Amino acid sequence: MKADGLKSGWPIVSRSGTNFRVSETRILQVADDEMKEAVSEASALLRAGEIVALPTETVYGLAADAFNPEAVAKVFAAKERPSFDPLIVHIASRGDLKNVAIVPPEIEETVNKLTAAFWPGPLTLILPKHPDVPDLVTSGLPTVAVRQSAHPVFRAVNKELGHPIAAPSANRFGRISPTSASAVMKELEGRIPLIVDAGACAEGVESTIISIEPREGKKPVFRLHRAGPVTKEQLQEFGRVEKARPVSQETPQAPGQLDSHYAPLTPLHLLEKPEDFQPEEGKRYGLLSYTGEDDSPYVALHDWETIESLSPGSGKLAEAAIRLFFVMRLLDEAGLDAIIAEPVSETGLGVAIMDRLRRASTSL
Ligand code: TXA
Ligand code: MG
Repeated sequence: MKADGLKSGWPIVSRSGTNFRVSETRILQVADDEMKEAVSEASALLRAGEIVALPTETVYGLAADAFNPEAVAKVFAAKERPSFDPLIVHIASRGDLKNVAIVPPEIEETVNKLTAAFWPGPLTLILPKHPDVPDLVTSGLPTVAVRQSAHPVFRAVNKELGHPIAAPSANRFGRISPTSASAVMKELEGRIPLIVDAGACAEGVESTIISIEPREGKKPVFRLHRAGPVTKEQLQEFGRVEKARPVSQETPQAPGQLDSHYAPLTPLHLLEKPEDFQPEEGKRYGLLSYTGEDDSPYVALHDWETIESLSPGSGKLAEAAIRLFFVMRLLDEAGLDAIIAEPVSETGLGVAIMDRLRRASTSL
């Protein structure tokens, strides 16, 4: 279907019972030498107020022109996302920050250091919002979450559009974030006109989110709202990293922090130690293992229906982060009664991985 035919979508009834107009979903593949066509098509759709799934270095995002509230509303509808959950705004260059946020003088130096060190890249900063950013984007909060993506396709679309891009992960609310175009298709087919496919995402988990609290004569405090690829260890060079203040579950400041999130449809149980696994007779269990090696106490624990490992190659956390959501999807589609997940060490990227596993997990 052509872009100009999009308005002739048909209504469907979503799981939550809401009607919204949808269209046929096309996948447009990008090779390095033919990025131009995909970039101009995606930016034309965005300029026309449509929503498009785009690759970022973390996960695929569902993009809308951040300055167009009607387009942003389509993002909430397609994801079945509650309107109290604000979106991240992506800017094409560091210079565009002033168009979406007002950086207070007392944290300006810190923002400069952080953006110099980590942008473009997977660090999202929560800053006081610029009045031009629609309230729908920030769910009425006085702050806005901002980052600059490092993905060449995303950056090119962002630049060509000439506006900031509001983009949450391209999954239905509460579900597993997509790290490939086919995963986006499974989540949003029929709800969006276009997915730009640039292969698998390099990081595999969503950006690290922090807010900044200045301190007289001392390094600032960074409140960690979501653990991600930029690790606590990396941030510590610039400030003291502390947990975000507990948020009420009724008015969450970062609903990605809701206890239940990233959930597969199959129950997932994260073990603390091997002995915590008590299988029930006749049930089919799959193991989400770290290395999947035979000498692992988790692999040896049971006659698993299937074993998927996060890091079959080198046993490293970076590989595990890249594969995490992909492996969760594989196991979710394997017809199991439950997915049993083995813990990983909580250092560096392991913090982000364990955070996602805990939120995907239901208690035993
Ligand atoms: O890597 C990423 O960050 C990906 C890619 C597409 O950029 N995006 C992403 O967006 O993960 P999303 O919407 O799935 O997660 C954004 C998180 C949510 O938990 C939201 O509550 C939080 O950011 N957030 C957004 N604005 C906020 C604000 N002003 N204050 C606190 N949290 C905020
Ligand atoms: Mg998300």
